[in-house]
Amino acid sequence: MNIEAGGARYSPDFDQPVRGDTITADRYTSSAWMKGEHDRLWPHVWHLGGVIADLEEPGDVIRHNFGRESIIMVKQDDGGVKAFYNACPHRGNRLILGDVASSDRIICSYHGWQFDTDGTLVHVQDPHDFPGGDPCGRVQLKPLRCETWGPFVFWNMDMDAAPLLDWLDPYPQRLEAYGLENWIRVFAVSADCDFNWKIIRDNFNESYHLPTIHPELSTFINDGLPTTVFEMYENGHNAMWMVGHQATTRQDFHSGEVPETLGQVAAAWGIRVEDYHGRTGELRAAVIAAKRKLGKERGYANYERMSDQQLVDYFHCTLWPNLTITMSPEQCQILRTEPHPTDPGKCVFQHWCLYPPVAGMKEVETPVGMLPLRHDALVRHGYYGDGNSLGFVADQDLSIGTTQQQGLNSRGFDGCILSHQEKRIQRFHELLNDVVLGTPPQG
Ligand code: FES
Ligand SMILES: [Fe+2]
Repeated sequence: MNIEAGGARYSPDFDQPVRGDTITADRYTSSAWMKGEHDRLWPHVWHLGGVIADLEEPGDVIRHNFGRESIIMVKQDDGGVKAFYNACPHRGNRLILGDVASSDRIICSYHGWQFDTDGTLVHVQDPHDFPGGDPCGRVQLKPLRCETWGPFVFWNMDMDAAPLLDWLDPYPQRLEAYGLENWIRVFAVSADCDFNWKIIRDNFNESYHLPTIHPELSTFINDGLPTTVFEMYENGHNAMWMVGHQATTRQDFHSGEVPETLGQVAAAWGIRVEDYHGRTGELRAAVIAAKRKLGKERGYANYERMSDQQLVDYFHCTLWPNLTITMSPEQCQILRTEPHPTDPGKCVFQHWCLYPPVAGMKEVETPVGMLPLRHDALVRHGYYGDGNSLGFVADQDLSIGTTQQQGLNSRGFDGCILSHQEKRIQRFHELLNDVVLGTPPQG
């Protein structure tokens, strides 16, 4: 393990060099940058489109609006899933207008063209009034790549892209033991926000803000720099392992009383918390032992395959370019920002939470409180600041978005000054420079 300036630890197996490109403000504010991303970034990456649970029957449809695009994923008669651009080949009208739909045929609301679930045109008005005769059977909805992993459906505009599982590397293998396939999406909220999508990407690529923006986490996540491990993979994804079920070592929680939140979790696993007075740091090992002993009888079938780290720690995976998967032992969070159709100063923020099915469990604790353990118990779209929470921790992250965007618009801002532990931000922007600008700029 490399322990470098400030004590941040970069895994020697998963470190990547950076050049030191200046991270200037224009990437957050300019329409030219936005167009560069639209033309050269977004058409070549895999996008998480939805969850397989919304595609039970042939003809079930998920719509995913992304920037100026809209994509539909459609369950096929053979059990597979196909994706199409949500645009009628006749004169371009959008076909599906809701987030989910279900129909044997996709019918355009303008002139009534009808398409089979496999995208084939099967009915038009006045079929013989077209040059070359009836277009039915000859015209198709324009397809995209569509593949699945775990409970998720992904799409990609690049027909030559690497297969999804290759693109996701190393996560299919690193997350396999959690058994995500049958996890249930309970919570799916989103909001329109007044900042560029990369503001929150940067936030997810560092833990430097935890003590200042999320001070409450310090009682049960050790955000101390020397205990946090960063990994950066060649393909642009990166990860951060944070020690969980342990208070921070930045403050002296370890010689006195066990912090209340940590104590509650430990007590729920049958641990006598009073025995750990002055030994708070040792509770993590006690929780691992208790989960190993009691997990199966409490219905956590996945614990058996999980490592000790996975039973208690937080694995924060940031995937190139805009998807975050945060794994805690009993919760999978999807966090991401997507570009606004036209305004570089706006984005859409999305937050989903999935939970393992546990026999007898009726409710789960979500970022907005207890909710029934069932598919999409809470689905909501709003705008940031409308009074609806996007999750306690997410609200805290988003709270800096608007003011950071405002500051980046100032001619007084000369480019980011990053600490060593923020290296993943540097790497993210250098990859972005390569893709969007084509050539590395001089720093
Ligand atoms: S635009 Fe769809 S039928 Fe005319
Ligand atoms: Fe945060």
